Amino acid sequence: MEIIHISAECYPMAKAGGLGDVVGALPKYQNQAGHFAKVVMPMYRTKFLYDNQFEVDFKGAAYLGDVYFEFTIIKQVTNKLGFDLYLVDINGLLDRENVYGYDDDTERFTAFQIAVITWLNSWEHEPDIVHCHDHHTALIPFMMKHCYAFKTKLANITSIVTIHNAQYQGWMSWDKSYYIPHWDTWKYGMLDWKNMINPLASGIKNAWRVTTVSNSYLEELTKNSNGLEKLFEYERGKCFGILNGIDHDVWNPSTDTYINHHFNVKTVDKGKAENKKIICENFKINPDLPLIVFIGRLVGEKAADILPESIQQIFTHLKNQCCIVILGSGDPVIEAQLKALQNSYKGLYNAYIGYNESLSHVLYAGADFLLMPSRVEPCGLNQMYAMRYGTVPMVRSTGGLKDTVIDIGDEAGYGIRYNNASVADILYSTQRAIDVYNDKDLLQTIRKRMMQIDNSWEKTVANYDAIYSF
Ligand code: ADP
Ligand code: GLC
Repeated sequence: MEIIHISAECYPMAKAGGLGDVVGALPKYQNQAGHFAKVVMPMYRTKFLYDNQFEVDFKGAAYLGDVYFEFTIIKQVTNKLGFDLYLVDINGLLDRENVYGYDDDTERFTAFQIAVITWLNSWEHEPDIVHCHDHHTALIPFMMKHCYAFKTKLANITSIVTIHNAQYQGWMSWDKSYYIPHWDTWKYGMLDWKNMINPLASGIKNAWRVTTVSNSYLEELTKNSNGLEKLFEYERGKCFGILNGIDHDVWNPSTDTYINHHFNVKTVDKGKAENKKIICENFKINPDLPLIVFIGRLVGEKAADILPESIQQIFTHLKNQCCIVILGSGDPVIEAQLKALQNSYKGLYNAYIGYNESLSHVLYAGADFLLMPSRVEPCGLNQMYAMRYGTVPMVRSTGGLKDTVIDIGDEAGYGIRYNNASVADILYSTQRAIDVYNDKDLLQTIRKRMMQIDNSWEKTVANYDAIYSF
């Protein structure tokens, strides 16, 4: 099948979180399974763009409302990612360093989608599957079906929307409806949710099938999805949960180029100790204590707001029994609080505020535990990476965390689970982590157990195949 993935992120061209990892891996494994999968995304001004060779594939023009814009689609020439990567260049809109966070994100991503669909409409043949990811690309199914310029050719193509995160929906007021190329106004209900144009809701209504990145998250969406609960109830029949995989080529402790000491199941204890030593030297913390790390966006979904208080409670109640390192960026208030704590707990605690891909690998490799108290976690890749590197996940029982981590108290378990995103639960799970660390036989057993879990993409690819042809 020819599958075209449309996304705002794709690693290594641009990544803000797990969406980038997924779109950077799924098409590669789909191709290995015999498909012809490709990715189209915005041409941001990132390092990957300057370090690689591209050729022009298409030049076009379109309107965003009454603003005429020209766009160019370039293609990476070597296929080094394992799939064809196409970038859409729109001067003045997409030519930025970052993926998100600009005041005109609505205009940027609407123009991106219009450019992509104009390009698809120009093809001599039709792809089998148009696969959209999150709200930035979720207007495409509507445009395929209800925009006069595209529906003749594209209305019958299978469209899929995968929801990686339903917290963000791309809401825009109805006065921006003229951005969308001339559409059948009888179909306004297919754009609307609660008197706004809601791109994610529109994607759910118009796509052939909708998937989310774990089963438990799909169940949670009917109860808690930032206003879309009823919609998920109505559309439940066409929604499916498919757990993400992880890219074993990139996340492999025996070959990872970001880490100094490689290891495998047999050498895990020694390998982790050596990597931990480097972390402890760099962050000036005690290497003899269990090391707990948090890696992620410092936002409410990840319960990052309760980290500062939790850290204080841990060091008050479990004095000198563990060390903590944070790698993250996000809410400036949380960033400042986490930085300020560095002075209070020297030798036990440190934080790197910012985004650092290589440091994340080093931490997965050298840490003993990974803390994820997420309030919302559609899938979560961190815990899967951690497990692959023999690092015990301490996770709240929610979404994909629930589907991928079995508590050590249960049969064949390997992780630490708790129910609430609360300081008390984090404290209790830390006590359990310290107990695990002090039982060296148990620690070794669960490290080996986790490292052998198969979270590879092959299974996921087969699950998508079933949806595509369902
Ligand atoms: P989300 O996409 O919601 O942020 P995921 O667990 O799916 O959560 O994926 C997060 C990805 O982003 C992982 O690859 C993780 O290692 C990475 N990541 C998050 N924050 C940082 C950071 N500050 N530096 C480096 N990598 C980070
Ligand atoms: C989102 C989710 C995260 C998931 C990722 C990839 O960003 O927050 O849980 O792992 O997408 O699907």
